[in-house]
Amino acid sequence: MKHFLSITEIDSLTHLVSEARALKKSPFGLKNLGKNKTVGLLFFNNSLRTRLSTQKAASNLGMDVMVMNFGKEGWALEYQDGTVMDQGTSEHIKEAAQVVSQYCDVIAIRAFAGLQDRHKDEAELVLNGFAAFASVPIVNMESSLGHPLQALADAITLAEHNEKAKPKVVLSWAPHPKALPHAVANSFVEMMRQQQAEFIITHPKGYELNPAITKGVPIEYDQNKALKDADFVYVKNWSSYSEYGKVLYQDPDWMITQEKLGKAKFMHCLPVRRNVVVEDAVLDGNQSLVIEQADNRTYSAQIVLKKILEEIKE
Ligand code: CP
Repeated sequence: MKHFLSITEIDSLTHLVSEARALKKSPFGLKNLGKNKTVGLLFFNNSLRTRLSTQKAASNLGMDVMVMNFGKEGWALEYQDGTVMDQGTSEHIKEAAQVVSQYCDVIAIRAFAGLQDRHKDEAELVLNGFAAFASVPIVNMESSLGHPLQALADAITLAEHNEKAKPKVVLSWAPHPKALPHAVANSFVEMMRQQQAEFIITHPKGYELNPAITKGVPIEYDQNKALKDADFVYVKNWSSYSEYGKVLYQDPDWMITQEKLGKAKFMHCLPVRRNVVVEDAVLDGNQSLVIEQADNRTYSAQIVLKKILEEIKE
């Protein structure tokens, strides 16, 4: 594995999930693989799970870890070629990426969508800029368009709990007071394309995700109908894609309740707003997988770093 930018780049999700589950059983067996190797974690946005689980994954492999809150502490980066840099930006991505490459053997980056300008977000200036100008592998810790480490952790969690040849999995939109990006939902859809499952997306009209990502996936606008007989319900808010970045409405009837969940397992990437996205009874009940999903973030990061380290050593 050279870079890990998208869940779609995985050759065989089934194999990678199996390998991650084996690592989970014996997480400290490869301490020498990362010896004298450094991963730099660059955060342009906040994090709890991604920051700590990726550090833990690297530590399990014997790597050194550097963490920088680039968005708050780094120089403001310029991404355009040929710009006269006489305004707010202080350092060009070309130098920054090459410089960080000298200190780190792997660079992991979190840079969310700004949700103001769809074309700018879809250009993935930070992630693609580092991929273009760094001389070391790049790992996506959530970008404008995707959150592949989360989707891989979700695939591990599904594999651990699924008991059917073809489970019914529903991705449901839920209300939220703020405009949120599409990255988690996008990567979940892309991951589900690689699963044997009956997969449905449900959301109010106007909250369609990028049709290039959801093409061919059934969309049901009646949430109760979509949830019927579900085995897994993955819940996430996202803002409108067509009216880019807008919160069109926040109908509380779309909140997930125990009654709606039925016998299904509940999944969410966290952080989650209690009694807005999902009621307490679900999160506090035994059908919730959210803490296990967060645990599996360590092993999704660890298997990705392992693959990258193996490629570096070849
Ligand atoms: N799920 C997830 O990526 O959590 P953090 O934003 O806390 O890293």
